[in-house]
Amino acid sequence: MSEPDSKTEITQPPEDPLSPEQKEEVSIQIQHKLIEKLHQENEKLRALTEELTSKAKALEEEMERSQNLERQLAQAQKLEALGQMATGIAHEINSPAQFIGDSLAFIKSAFDEILEGAAKDDVPEFLRDNLPQAMANAQQGVERLAEIVSSMKRFSHSGDGRKKQPGDVNQAVGDSMAVSKNLWKYHLEIDTELDEELPEIPCFVSEISQVILNLIVNATHAIIDAKKAEEGREGRIIIRTKQVEDGVTIEIRDNANGIPEEIREQIFDPYFTTKKIGEGTGQGLALAQSQIVKTHGGRIHFETELGIGTAFFIFLPLDPEKPAGPSG
Ligand SMILES: Nc1ncnc2c1ncn2[C@@H]1O[C@H](COP(=O)(O)OP(=O)(O)O)[C@@H](O)[C@H]1O
Ligand SMILES: [Mg+2]
Repeated sequence: MSEPDSKTEITQPPEDPLSPEQKEEVSIQIQHKLIEKLHQENEKLRALTEELTSKAKALEEEMERSQNLERQLAQAQKLEALGQMATGIAHEINSPAQFIGDSLAFIKSAFDEILEGAAKDDVPEFLRDNLPQAMANAQQGVERLAEIVSSMKRFSHSGDGRKKQPGDVNQAVGDSMAVSKNLWKYHLEIDTELDEELPEIPCFVSEISQVILNLIVNATHAIIDAKKAEEGREGRIIIRTKQVEDGVTIEIRDNANGIPEEIREQIFDPYFTTKKIGEGTGQGLALAQSQIVKTHGGRIHFETELGIGTAFFIFLPLDPEKPAGPSG
C-alpha cells in the first residue's frame, strides 16, 4: 500500500503514443475481433444446442420405445390372464351345465311317463299344459349355455405349442359373434354370408377369432356413434367368408359413418385411438395387423366411405410360408 504523502510530485501521464485517429482505428479493430469471437462462440453454442437437442430427442424416443414395450408386455400379460380365466370359468360352468341338462332330461322323461300312466284328474291341468313347455325352455337354455361355454373355450385357447393347426374360419366367426353378442345385440344386427365350402386354414384359430372380435367391436362402436348422431338409424354388420384361389377371405362390413380421411393412415398404429380413455386402447387394429400379417402371412386392408360405412378385408393364405405380397 502506498502512502499518499511519500511522493509529493505528481507524475505526469506518459505522453500518449497514439493519435486519436490511431486510437479510433485500434478500437474498431478490437470491436471487430470481439464481434468475430462472439460469432464463433455463438456458432459453437448453436452446434452444442443442436447436439443436445438431438440427444434429448433420442432419449425421449428411447423412453417412449421402452414405455411402449412395457405397455405391450402388460397388455399381453393381461390378455393371457384373461384367457386363462375365461378357460377356467368355461370349464367350471361346464360341469353344472351338464348335470342340469342330464337332470332335466331325466325329469322330462319321468314326467312323460307320469302323464302317460296317470288318470286325467291325477295331474292338474295347469301342470299338464305348462310343464312340458317350461322344461323345453329350460333345456334350450342349457343348450345355449353349453354353446357359449364351448365358444369361450375355443376362443381363449392359447395357441399352445405354437404350431398352426387346421382351423375353421366360419367357426371362428361364430365364436367371435357369440362371445361379443352382449355388446352388439342391443344396437345392431349381424348378417353372415359364410362360404359352406370354406377349406380349413393352417392357423392359430383363437387368434383369428380375436381379430374378428376386434373388428366386430370397432364396427359396433362406430355404429353406436353413428346412431347417436342420427336418430332412427339402423345398425348392421355383414360378415362374409369366401374361398379364393390360394386362401380364404373374411370381410367385416359396417354401415356406420366411415373413417375420416385425416386418420386413415394412422388407424393401424399402436395406441392410435379416437376413443375416450377406458373405451379404446388403440391396440385392436395394431394387434390385428400383426396377427394377420406377421403370424399368419396374410393381409388386412379396409375400404371406407364417409356416411356409408367401412369394410375390413382379411386374406389368410392356405400356405402361410408363401409370401403374401404387399398388404392392402
Ligand atoms: N369400423 C370403423 N369405423 C370407423 N372408425 C373405425 C373403425 N374401425 C376402427 N376405426 C378407427 O380406428 C381407430 C383405431 O382402432 P383400434 O386400433 O381398434 O383402437 P380402439 O378401438 O381402441 O380405438 C379407432 O379409434 C377408430 O377411430
Ligand atoms: Mg378397437
